[in-house]
Amino acid sequence: MSRIVKGPLQRLRKDIPLPLYYQLKELIKHQIETKAFKPHDRLPSEIELSEVYGVSRMTARRALVDLENEGFVYRESGRGTFVAEPKLRQGLRRLTSFTEDIKARGMVPGAKVREVELVSDEHVAQKLNVDATETLVKVQRVRLADNLPLALETSYLIHRYCPEIEQSDFTNISLYKVLNEQYGIYLGKAEQYLEAKSAGPLEAQVLEIEEGKSVLLMERTTYLDDNETPIEFVNSVYRSDRYRFYVELKAG
Ligand code: GLP
Repeated sequence: MSRIVKGPLQRLRKDIPLPLYYQLKELIKHQIETKAFKPHDRLPSEIELSEVYGVSRMTARRALVDLENEGFVYRESGRGTFVAEPKLRQGLRRLTSFTEDIKARGMVPGAKVREVELVSDEHVAQKLNVDATETLVKVQRVRLADNLPLALETSYLIHRYCPEIEQSDFTNISLYKVLNEQYGIYLGKAEQYLEAKSAGPLEAQVLEIEEGKSVLLMERTTYLDDNETPIEFVNSVYRSDRYRFYVELKAG
């Protein structure tokens, strides 16, 4: 309990226009970021916080709810509020696969395969710059890191570039590796959009979150190494409490 009053943000200020719940939230966040509280440590309860900081229980509750919504803490009913594992940081500048990204963090990548089938889809065909009747391979997987669900990923590939790829079992193998090793395909670049959305019923179920919770939608179109021919269109829905995206910006 005493740890919470250490550090630069030691007290709440009633003489400034920042709401108290916000100040309290930032103060706890600072304690988490500086590791005064470590992952899975129990945080003080609403009552304890309200006593220590001289705020109402409503204010303490609002700070904890916001911290939960931002993915810094998780609550267990009857047990309290605990510090969450830090989010995985995903760079946005290199064209990498999920498998590489997760391995680079010392975790074990995996997948639960939901669907592998041949389809045609007008909307996706347009993204891939092919005819609406073109045969596409749809691969839908729940992507796991150390067995925890991180993303629901639906990839569409142009079948004629990778015939019979639908025979592969994607539970433990990388799609990009198969493209490269079995079909000699080298990827050149990808275009990616990132936006926020609310989890629908399927996403909530497979990602083990509440329906309506905010998630990150990433749409990627991947090109062959001529940098002109699309081969893959992917729609990935990431848990926003486990993932954050990072990009370094240079001036000029
Ligand atoms: C990332 C990308 C996807 C890509 C996938 C391939 O998740 N966002 O666009 O399809 O990696 O991953 P893997 O090669 O591990 O199957």
